[in-house]
Amino acid sequence: MDNFLTPEELADVERLISLYPEPQAALLPVLWMVQRKYGWLSLESIRRVAELLHLPYAHVLGVVRFYTMFHTEPMGRYHIQVCTNVPCMLRGGEQVLEYIAQKLGIGHKQRTPDGLFSLEEVECMGACGGAPMIAINEDYYENITLEQVDELLERLRLTSGNGTILQPDDDEHTAT
Ligand code: FES
Repeated sequence: MDNFLTPEELADVERLISLYPEPQAALLPVLWMVQRKYGWLSLESIRRVAELLHLPYAHVLGVVRFYTMFHTEPMGRYHIQVCTNVPCMLRGGEQVLEYIAQKLGIGHKQRTPDGLFSLEEVECMGACGGAPMIAINEDYYENITLEQVDELLERLRLTSGNGTILQPDDDEHTAT
């Protein structure tokens, strides 16, 4: 992992550190940057972040394990989070989760053999007004229906298979 971060990314780390009185305060954004680059946080990545911020490895590892948004094993290229907290549950969130799990043949925190999708059941993501909702990577899809799940997964699968990578950013994020 010699090229753990590029010079530009290292400069960004320095910029983040400069925003706060203590380097430790930059830990979450730096971890997030590394996870966005690699898709997950290996023990080696965690060690390198600890070195960059001059923090104890055990502290950084503890932070990573505390926050569910950090993954300590590889997730899919498209990480699907399904909210099953009360408002989403009352509007079918559990059925959405079950449907996606059956459709992809994976469970909580698992990924498909092709590495394309992973699934996670999550607590409230702050979009209760659009319940039930799911997130794919960093994009929210609210008032989601099973039919829309089908369309989304199919589109992601097709476009990633023919060399054209669909970024969820290209979608209309809020289903109506
Ligand atoms: S309960 Fe699902 S987003 Fe709040």
